[in-house]
Amino acid sequence: MDPVSIDDPRVPLRGAVLGLGMIGRHHARLLQASPRVSFAGAVDPGGDRFGMVQDPALIFATVAELLAAGAPDFAIVAVPTEEHLPAARELAAAGVSVLVEKPLAATAEEARELIAAVEAAGVRAAVGHVERCNPALLELRRRVGAGQLGEVFMIATERVGPFPARIRDVGVVKDLATHDLDLVRWLGGAPIASVAAQTQHRMGREHEDLVLVTGVTASDVAFNVNVDWLSPTKVRRTRILGEKGMLVADTLTSDLTFFANGEVTSEWSAAQASRGVSEGDMTRYALSRREPLLVELEAFCDWVAGDDGAAVVTLEEGLQTVLAAEAVLRAAATGETVRL
Ligand SMILES: NC(=O)c1ccc[n+]([C@@H]2O[C@H](COP(=O)([O-])OP(=O)(O)OC[C@H]3O[C@@H](n4cnc5c(N)ncnc54)[C@H](O)[C@@H]3O)[C@@H](O)[C@H]2O)c1
Repeated sequence: MDPVSIDDPRVPLRGAVLGLGMIGRHHARLLQASPRVSFAGAVDPGGDRFGMVQDPALIFATVAELLAAGAPDFAIVAVPTEEHLPAARELAAAGVSVLVEKPLAATAEEARELIAAVEAAGVRAAVGHVERCNPALLELRRRVGAGQLGEVFMIATERVGPFPARIRDVGVVKDLATHDLDLVRWLGGAPIASVAAQTQHRMGREHEDLVLVTGVTASDVAFNVNVDWLSPTKVRRTRILGEKGMLVADTLTSDLTFFANGEVTSEWSAAQASRGVSEGDMTRYALSRREPLLVELEAFCDWVAGDDGAAVVTLEEGLQTVLAAEAVLRAAATGETVRL
C-alpha cells in the first residue's frame, strides 16, 4: 500500500486506538489533541472506563465496528500483550497501519507472525518503545554519541516499583524489562550478545516478579538490568559509565546528570587510590521536556506519511527485544549464560 501522503506529511491522518486501559487512555487523549491526527475512534469491549473519548459515537466494541464506520489510516494497538498479534493482524488485513505497544508480542513466534502479517498487507508498522522518546534518554544518547564519556564501559538500568495489578498475561521480564533490553541496544549501539539472569516469584503468580540480568553487547559493553514489581518505591534510572565519567538519566523526572571524572590531582593520595577515579564536577542539564508519547505519535505519523527517516522503532527491533527477553527467561531457568 502507498504511504498516505508523501507530498504533505502534515495532512491529518485518521488515527484510532485499540484498548482504553492504562496506556491506551493516554493515546486516546493525544489522538484527539494532536493537529496531526483526525480521531477515528477507540475500540474497547470494556468501554471508555476512564472517560477519555469526547464523542461517544466514536467508542466501538470491536475492530469490525470501527472499520465499518470508515477504516482509519492507522491504529495504535494498546491491548494486553497476548492480544497484540490478533489485533494487529485484523487491522493490517484491512489496510490499516499499526503502532503496536511494547513488547511487540508475547512470544518471538507471535512477533514473527505479526511481522509476516504486516508485510503481507503492505502497511506501515512500528513498536511503541516510548522510553526512546524520553527527553533525558534522548539527550543521554546524543551526548554518548558525541563522545562525552569517551569509550563506554557499562550500561545499568533500574526499573523497580510496586505491582500494577492489571498485568495478568506476562511477567516482569516481558512487561517491563523489554524497555531496558531495548534501551541497552539503542544506547549501546550494538545488539545484545549474551545474558545471564536470576528471577524471583514472590507474589504467587505464574510469572516472575523480579529479574536481575547481567550481560554484554556485541561491542563489549557490559550491562546490568534490575527490574521488579516488589519494591515499595518507584525508580526509573539509566546509568552509563565511560572513561571520562558517568551520565545518569532519571526517566520519571526526565533529569539528566553528568558526573565528570576529576582532572585535578588531589593531595590526599590515599583516598584517590582507593577510589580509582577522582570525583569531578557534577552537572544537571536543563532539558526541554515534551511528552514522550506525543513525540512517539508524531514520529509514527511521519512514518505513515512516507518519511523513511522517521525515528520509529521497527518491528525487527521489536522482535530482537522479545528474543532478548526470552533469552533472559531461559538463562534464569537454566542458570546458564545464553548467547543470542
Ligand atoms: N509504553 C509503555 O510505557 C507502556 C505502559 C503501559 C502498558 N504498555 C503496554 O500496553 C499494552 C496495554 O497495557 P495496559 O497497561 O494499558 O493494559 P490495561 O489492562 O490497562 O488495558 C488494556 C485494555 O485493552 C482492552 N482490550 C482487551 N482486549 C481488547 C481487544 N481485543 N480490542 C480492544 N480492546 C481490548 C481492555 O478492556 C483494557 O481496557 C500492553 O502491551 C503493555 O505492555 C506500554
